[in-house]
Amino acid sequence: MTERIVSGMRPTGKLHLGHYLGVIQNWVELQHKYESFFFVADWHALTTKYDKTENLKQDTLEVVMDWLASGIDPNVATIYVQSLVPEIAELNTYLSMITPQNWVERDPTLKDMAKILRTKEGTNSQISYGLMGYPVLMSADIMMFNATAVPVGIDQVAHIEITRDIARRFNNIYKTEFFNEAKPLLNHCSLICGLDGNKMGKSFQNDIKISDSEEVTAKKIMSAITDRSRMRKDDPGHPDECQVAFKYWEIFADEEQKNTVRCECEKGQRGCADCKRQLGKLINEKFAPIREKRRYYEAHPEEVRAIIEAGSQKARKEAQKILTEVRNIIGMY
Ligand code: TRP
Repeated sequence: MTERIVSGMRPTGKLHLGHYLGVIQNWVELQHKYESFFFVADWHALTTKYDKTENLKQDTLEVVMDWLASGIDPNVATIYVQSLVPEIAELNTYLSMITPQNWVERDPTLKDMAKILRTKEGTNSQISYGLMGYPVLMSADIMMFNATAVPVGIDQVAHIEITRDIARRFNNIYKTEFFNEAKPLLNHCSLICGLDGNKMGKSFQNDIKISDSEEVTAKKIMSAITDRSRMRKDDPGHPDECQVAFKYWEIFADEEQKNTVRCECEKGQRGCADCKRQLGKLINEKFAPIREKRRYYEAHPEEVRAIIEAGSQKARKEAQKILTEVRNIIGMY
C-alpha cells in the first residue's frame, strides 16, 4: 500500500514565491509518491480571523488556482476544502475529549499566536476557545485520513508531535492500533526572503506573487535590496553580501549563470540595476507556464469550483469510512 500524506494551507489569498518554493513545489513532487490529500484550512483561518470573512470564498479559490497552476494534479492528488468535509469536525470532537488541556497550552506555535493577538487592539485580542483547539483540529485533519506522514515546514513540527501524542493516546484509551502516528516530512528547500531581506510575507508587502504579471514582477525585483556598501556600478561587488538579488540568483539560476553573475559582479562589470533586470527576466521565464495556466483557471473559475467540489466529495467518502471505524472503536451508538 502506498503511504498517505495530508497537508493544508490557510486561505490567505494569492500565494507568493515563498509558498511556491517552500510548500507547493514539494507537494507537486510528493503527489506522485504518496496518496495525497491537500486541503484549504478554512476553519483554521477562522481561529483568528472569524470576523474577517468577506474574502474567505475568493481567497480559497485563489489558493486552489495557485496549486493547480503550479502542477498539483486533481487527478492524482485529492484537493478539498476543510469545511466541505464536516466529518473532520466530528473527529475533532472525539479528539478534544481525550486531549489533556495542558497539551494544547504548551503548544509553542499557539503561544506565539496568542502573544501576537494580545498585542493587537480590539475584539481580536482574546484567544478564542477555537484557537486553543487549533492543534486538536490539526490532528483531526491528519487523522481523518489516517495519514502516515505530513509534509510541513519546520514551524509546524510541534503540531505534528501533538498529533502523534493524540493518536497514541487514542490507541491506548480504546485499546486499538487503529491510528498511525504520522511523521513530519520536512522539505529541504531553499527559503526565499522578501524583497527587503526579511521573511517573505503577504502582510510585509515584500512578496512576489505566483500570479503577478511580468511587469509587476520586473518592477518588484528592481526594488530588491543588493549590496548596500556598493556605491557605483563599476565598483567591485560582493555577491555574498548582496542581501536579496544574489540570493534569488542562487535559487533560480543554474550553476553556469550563477558563476557568471558572481564573476561579473566581483569584477565590477555588472551594475545592480542591470543585474536585477536580468534576474526579473529569469524569474518571469520560470513562472511563465505557471502563470499561463493560472490565467486559464482565472478565466474558468467554474472549473476550479468543480475540482474543489469533486475533491471534497472524494475526501468525504474516505473520511466517512474512517469515521465509521472510529465511532465503532469508541462505542458510539
Ligand atoms: N497549521 C498549518 C499552517 O498554518 C495549516 C494546517 C492545518 C495543516 N491543518 C493541517 C498542515 C494539517 C498540515 C496538516 O500552515
